[in-house]
Amino acid sequence: MDILNFGSLNLDLVYAVDHFVQAGETLSSDSLTYFCGGKGLNQSLALARAGLMVSHAGCIGADGGRLTALLQQAGVDTAFVQTVQQPTGHAIIQVDKTGQNCILLFGGANRCIDENWARQVICDFDGGWLLLQNEINGLNIMMETAHQQGMHIAFNPSPVTPEIRNLPLEWIDCFLVNEIEGEALTGQSRPKAILDAFQTIYPATAVVLTCGSGGAYFADAQTRVYQPVFETRVVDTTGAGDTFTGYFLAGYSRGVSPAVCMRTAAMAASIAVSRPGAGDSIPQRAQVEQALEAIYNK
Ligand code: RIB
Repeated sequence: MDILNFGSLNLDLVYAVDHFVQAGETLSSDSLTYFCGGKGLNQSLALARAGLMVSHAGCIGADGGRLTALLQQAGVDTAFVQTVQQPTGHAIIQVDKTGQNCILLFGGANRCIDENWARQVICDFDGGWLLLQNEINGLNIMMETAHQQGMHIAFNPSPVTPEIRNLPLEWIDCFLVNEIEGEALTGQSRPKAILDAFQTIYPATAVVLTCGSGGAYFADAQTRVYQPVFETRVVDTTGAGDTFTGYFLAGYSRGVSPAVCMRTAAMAASIAVSRPGAGDSIPQRAQVEQALEAIYNK
């Protein structure tokens, strides 16, 4: 296995709406669709569809079989997915007419991870990278154990919460953040200032900063890369950041140059936003390569 992703698994209830519901407003939705999601599951799918050997760890309830089935179909090892006596996590997602989303989370089983079990999973894992997001409990112990085991750690601090500052972030090898998360961690709001601040606070760490339609940036001690978005018709932005994260890390963890990783990840995310859903919208590697070839080998 190349990478262990210890992360959330959610059932996504996606409501198509004219606009996001406001305080005090009652709004009818145009449709309801059930998708597989969770930042953890989405990122495992993206890593696997990009060609990596992925092991997913996390917790679901008795109602979460659809989520492990989708991971298995994509070739993800689910031996470390535990079923607990809690409902599976879910997300209530509004998608408006422009394809933008807003998300309400219920953690459920994602917040019931036994820390001793988590430590054991990481100790038993035979591979080089641990990927984490912020939708599960136990991050502290996971980072500590991975660090002791000499693993590389990639962290997508999403959704961002004040508790993130209490984690041992100096052990992170690669941060993957959007502008909101970047600002929360550095106090800076402009992309260049966020990257500069990351490099000052965590000099040995790489950072990927995604800025939606404003493109994405990579920075480490040697290199800076800017990658614009590949324009497309936006249907649903849910899971675009997860697609970017998985595709970027699939290359980066194997030593591919940051510029190539960023370009591949941007194309994968562009395809994902042109389709509905989160996990279901993530493209296969061949589709991403074909789309890149159509642009660069004309
Ligand atoms: O990043 C998108 C994901 O965030 C959705 O799939 C939802 O489950 C939430 O975790």
